[in-house]
Amino acid sequence: MSKFTYLLIGGNGFIGTNLIYKLLDNKREVYCIDAFDSNTKSIQNKHFKSYIDDLTDVNLLKQLVKKSDIIIFLASSSHVRNSSEAILIEIDNIECFINTLDIIKQYPDKKLIYASSGGTVYGEPEAIPVSENHCLNPISPYGIGKITMEQFLKYYASKYGINYVICRYSNPYGKYQSPFSGVGVINKLLYDYNNNTETNIVGNPDESIRDYIYISDLVDATIAVAEADSCKNEIFNVGSGEGTSLNQIINEIKAVLNDDLKLNSEKFGNENVSKIVLDITKIKKIAGWKPKISLKKGIKLNNEYIKEFLEKNK
Ligand SMILES: NC(=O)c1ccc[n+]([C@@H]2O[C@H](COP(=O)([O-])OP(=O)(O)OC[C@H]3O[C@@H](n4cnc5c(N)ncnc54)[C@H](O)[C@@H]3O)[C@@H](O)[C@H]2O)c1
Repeated sequence: MSKFTYLLIGGNGFIGTNLIYKLLDNKREVYCIDAFDSNTKSIQNKHFKSYIDDLTDVNLLKQLVKKSDIIIFLASSSHVRNSSEAILIEIDNIECFINTLDIIKQYPDKKLIYASSGGTVYGEPEAIPVSENHCLNPISPYGIGKITMEQFLKYYASKYGINYVICRYSNPYGKYQSPFSGVGVINKLLYDYNNNTETNIVGNPDESIRDYIYISDLVDATIAVAEADSCKNEIFNVGSGEGTSLNQIINEIKAVLNDDLKLNSEKFGNENVSKIVLDITKIKKIAGWKPKISLKKGIKLNNEYIKEFLEKNK
């Protein structure tokens, strides 16, 4: 008998697919609900069931929430760079989230994990690394949407007793990240290299500093905060805690590949902050988690995935 039953809302995406595989390895029961099943349809496991729905079937969502102990909300329809061109998508995201909260509030014994964004909610930080107490000052509609959903979650928690954890993820990279999503520079550089195409570099490679976390570390952190009793009604930064410039990424990739990359420069998009690194002291202390995968190892793993991806999609 599994210890926990999970429901992953938006589980067919990059983070969700990785979570599903790890949870099944850990012998958990897993339900997934997503508008698509492109990643999850090949999963054959008696402990897994996937439903295709755009979160409008309230009865289905209610049934799945009822059967689960831990709900991870990952559904999101935009990313930082395009959120200014499609601001109203944020309203859809918020509406879907509130509809979900309206169901979960009827079952306050459940635990809800919300996937927020450490890369956007703080805006341009006063100093790096930033702790969870840093002021919230987003410069993109995506970041504004994330904070709005965090605030609604806190409101529902105080009014209805929902038990929650907010994970403010930094910049994850690795397996199941789509090279076509416009998110994830490491994955994109590796895809373009293996596909023999040029990569458009956005921003100044020396000034753009990010906190890159390999996906398996993010997955372990998420499961740690989901399953630890000590993690209740908390916000955690989830990152590597290390700042790496885009130039360092490019050089590390060249070293791993032992080859050059074909790069092209694009204008800096003002929706992205220039430097962001997360302080991960709190999650290390309370959840007992720490990142394990070095940048070099992560790049090697990501490169293996890209090769498999290209082989499969030949
Ligand atoms: N990947 C990152 O760099 C990153 C960083 C910080 C935070 N996050 C957040 O983590 C979450 C998951 O990210 P991801 O990279 O896996 O994203 P993703 O785009 O790969 O996956 C999101 C999934 O949500 C589904 N979805 C969206 N709207 C839906 C709806 N109305 N009904 C049903 N399904 C819906 C999509 O089909 C998709 O499978 C998102 O909320 C994202 O904002 C991601």
